Amino acid sequence: MTIHAVYPGSFDPFTLGHLDVVARASKLVDKLTILVVHNPHKTTSTDAGARAQLIKQVLFDAGIEDRQIFIEHLSEGLLAERCEELGANLIIKGVRNSADLDYETPMATVNRDLTGIETMFLAASPEYSHISSTLVRQVAALKGNVKLYVPNAVAEWLASNPEVNR
Ligand code: PNS
Repeated sequence: MTIHAVYPGSFDPFTLGHLDVVARASKLVDKLTILVVHNPHKTTSTDAGARAQLIKQVLFDAGIEDRQIFIEHLSEGLLAERCEELGANLIIKGVRNSADLDYETPMATVNRDLTGIETMFLAASPEYSHISSTLVRQVAALKGNVKLYVPNAVAEWLASNPEVNR
């Protein structure tokens, strides 16, 4: 059976923790689609298409753009339905701690209720388990150094787009 996994998230912005999940997950599945998704509970600084474009640059810089990794974005609608449209049969999420697991488990169950798609969790690497997009945005907004937390392309993008940091 061919495994086509979707790795969904807001990625606002895409961090080194996200990149670590992509690099590890892409070795486990036949095809991985990073899906930049709107989160109805979050106001994002840029549209999902712009965030997807930046992730493309990050994968190129990391030298993993030649693996079976694709990038799509979802500006409205249900994740589970988009997975069906893409022909994906698995959702992959990274979990850093028990709070992440509490947040992710109901979503995994609802996604399975909706279309039958299963979710698998990858434990975050310890060196990245304290990194969140929210903290990165805060540090960037206060002009701190975010290079420890995000790929270079993202750090440069944050520095040159100060209006989106909040
Ligand atoms: O990175 P995030 O913001 O924690 O990711 C959450 C996300 C975007 C994966 C989630 O909000 C989502 O799936 N949004 C799409 C709308 C949807 O399908 N909602 C029902 C999911 S149970």
